[in-house]
Amino acid sequence: MVPACMVYGFIAFWGVLGLAVFFIAMRGGPRAARESLHTDSRLGQRAVTLGIVLLFALGLVVPALVLAFNGEHKATVAVGGLHLNAEEVRGRELFAHTCAVCHTLAAVKSVGRIGPNLDVRVGDDIATAAGRKALVLSAIAEGRARGLGQMPAMLYQGKEAEQVADFVAAVAGH
Ligand code: HEC
Repeated sequence: MVPACMVYGFIAFWGVLGLAVFFIAMRGGPRAARESLHTDSRLGQRAVTLGIVLLFALGLVVPALVLAFNGEHKATVAVGGLHLNAEEVRGRELFAHTCAVCHTLAAVKSVGRIGPNLDVRVGDDIATAAGRKALVLSAIAEGRARGLGQMPAMLYQGKEAEQVADFVAAVAGH
């Protein structure tokens, strides 16, 4: 994300520059300003051309920068304006790849009906984030076959299982 201070700095910089140009132009009174606008000197014309080129360049560069940085920033935003850390962002990918076919989870817009809706089973039923994570980890490690269908064990292991569990614990029910 482009930090707010950069945006304010940018605005302040151009504000000051604009004022400076205005005062320099007005220094010799309106007539001098008019004359300097209609200058025939080559230096003056070059300066005007340079100014226009610079303006266009900035007009392209600044929005491009903002778009680029904002795009990256959005990847970490989940449902309900939650912010995901890098592990949880990875967990979202893993979940979408393997778990979403069977489970409904609003955070990845999945509507799987083979297994329970995790917004309810994990999000609503379990009060603490630690409890949610533990449930997801146990479901991944052991699998489930308690009469509600079949969930294979060990779809993920180790770090990946942790990342999925972190992600589901953070977003379920939101
Ligand atoms: C093939 C379909 C399928 C896939 C893929 C699948 N699940 Fe499941 N899951 C189920 C079913 C069915 C149940 C309920 C089984 C039961 O309790 O009898 C379940 C139950 C759960 C539960 C609830 C456990 C409990 O004790 O209430 C969690 C949490 C869960 N799954 C998470 C995941 C995660 C995370 C993934 C991806 C790694 C995943 N599931 C992949 C079918 C699936």
